[in-house]
Amino acid sequence: GDDILSIAHEYDVDLEGACEGSIACSTCHVILEPDVYDQLDEPCEDEEDMLDLAFGLTDTSRLGCQVK
Ligand code: FES
Repeated sequence: GDDILSIAHEYDVDLEGACEGSIACSTCHVILEPDVYDQLDEPCEDEEDMLDLAFGLTDTSRLGCQVK
């Protein structure tokens, strides 16, 4: 895939993705630059729910596996 999680793994970046992109964990939590965040489509409801459980949630947090 071309989501942030896949790209991170391609470049050996240490980002976890315990559920492999099925929006069932928050281990792929990433914090984005505001201008990057603003360019993305809104997170879906499932992603919002998982983000609420993410450690250190910020206003520009997303699940890496859902960001393309
Ligand atoms: Fe589990 Fe992204 S890898 S929600």
